[in-house]
Amino acid sequence: MKKNFDQIYSTVEIDPVTDRYHITIPEEIINEFDWYEDLVVKWNVDNGSFYNKNSDVGNDYLNGNMNTELIGPRFGHFKSEELRLGLFLLEPNIFYKDHKHEAPELYINLTNGTEWRFGNSGWQFQEPGSIIYNEPFKEHAMRVNENPFLSIWCWPKNSSSECILVPRSDWSNLK
Ligand SMILES: [Fe+2]
Repeated sequence: MKKNFDQIYSTVEIDPVTDRYHITIPEEIINEFDWYEDLVVKWNVDNGSFYNKNSDVGNDYLNGNMNTELIGPRFGHFKSEELRLGLFLLEPNIFYKDHKHEAPELYINLTNGTEWRFGNSGWQFQEPGSIIYNEPFKEHAMRVNENPFLSIWCWPKNSSSECILVPRSDWSNLK
């Protein structure tokens, strides 16, 4: 696989008739996943299953997330009870609230324009090709701007552990 991630870009187009998003997944990623033409990739929407039933993860996340599992316990092309790996998408202009989880988390960010904060770090842009590693229980939040956020996402272990919201005083301003 091409290792210089900073030169891999995804393009996002909107079909003017259906308003659906079309994302071109770079060939290098397709090859790495061992996908092929006509392969069906099942997109899943997380309806809050990673969170406690009563948690207030918010409609931005609930209505704006999608994922595919290449490796995983339920939908993976390859089954693993522990390791989850796939693509993760957030729609434009949404705020994904501060949260943490026991699973260590790795993102390879494929798109431009998403900001992150880690605890009290303040908001910071992450370039396309950047790698974001969240160690267990590290607080993180995301603010997606006009471009959707598309990433390769991985939880290598403790992947059935729950996500826990970490309330912050500025949430109402960010919705
Ligand atoms: Fe996370």
